Amino acid sequence: MHTTPPPTDAADVRLRAVAELATATSSPISRALDAVRLLLGMDMAYVADTRGAQRELVAVTGEAASFGAHADRSVALAGTYCGELLAGTIDGLVTDARRDPRVSRLASTRRADIGAFIGQPIKLWDGTVFGVMGCVSHDARPHLDERDVQFVALIARLIAGQLEQQQLAEQHERTRMTTELVRTLLAALAARDGYTSDHSYGVVKLALAVGRMLDLTSEELIEVEQVALLHDIGKIGMPDRILQKPGPLSEDEWSVMRTHPVVGADLVSRMDALAHLAPAIRAEHERWDGTGYPDGLTTEAIPTSSRIVFVCDALHAMTSDRPYRTAMSYGAAITELQRNSGTQFSPAVVAATPRSIAAMHPGDFLRTQTVTDPRQ
Ligand SMILES: [Fe+2]
Repeated sequence: MHTTPPPTDAADVRLRAVAELATATSSPISRALDAVRLLLGMDMAYVADTRGAQRELVAVTGEAASFGAHADRSVALAGTYCGELLAGTIDGLVTDARRDPRVSRLASTRRADIGAFIGQPIKLWDGTVFGVMGCVSHDARPHLDERDVQFVALIARLIAGQLEQQQLAEQHERTRMTTELVRTLLAALAARDGYTSDHSYGVVKLALAVGRMLDLTSEELIEVEQVALLHDIGKIGMPDRILQKPGPLSEDEWSVMRTHPVVGADLVSRMDALAHLAPAIRAEHERWDGTGYPDGLTTEAIPTSSRIVFVCDALHAMTSDRPYRTAMSYGAAITELQRNSGTQFSPAVVAATPRSIAAMHPGDFLRTQTVTDPRQ
């Protein structure tokens, strides 16, 4: 039985709490926490992130200081009400903590002087637990009942939706910034040596088709795409006399040219959004049998995206017109890949390539490419 506040006000506050989360545009989580806290007559309300073995308060309203609670400070999950709730020791409602044997000896009960707790787990759509939404008071709260727990569960579900929206927005922003950075780097490479982005985009389409054929995850496919775009970015650092030399390169010039994967890896490792691509860019000229460069990696030690891009880059180059030769036919180029499967190239990638091309839109790959840069 609810004594305070009266039922009509309670219904009104419940509606307001839901409306806050459904319509508010600024810090809706804090305002919903406040509404729940006032409705239930609690001293503090919070959202805790419990992923990992820690409990970190990501939103707190009310008298946080009197409980020794601080936003953004992590404490061990064990011995907290959040920990007990997630472990199933308590079911979400403790009306008199000092007399309740489930929590009376809990470190938090004494340390934070907790008299009552109500809370529910925050579960995301994929079923994973983000954390806990909870309210605590210093005094016992005998009026709290199962209806209040149901209400807290509803707000916890809405908070989960808000958190997911925030995560999606952040992910979207990161992807946008990364894409912009990749475009800028490619534009810089194009300005540096006339290397056309057509080549990179042709390799990207093929590499993605091969990646899909090999059942890569969506995260792995994003890496394949970015490595395909940026695999030759280290050519930015090659001297003009080599990059723009019209005739064949001398052995000394080739040894400089072969540093481009290292230069490219070094470049991207300085950019937060792209640093994770550095090992794959460094390994884009490694050969399956260990005779590639710069590190002589073999077989599975070569990152998957590097193995895919190496094959697709070679196929794209062979089937493109070059200043000193016309394009090889598609069939002849595939035969050449197969001849080098297991020595130069990953056998699995070579085997998947003709099937991947067959699955692609005809205009995406099977057209004669014109590439101005002769150096692979
Ligand atoms: Fe390269």
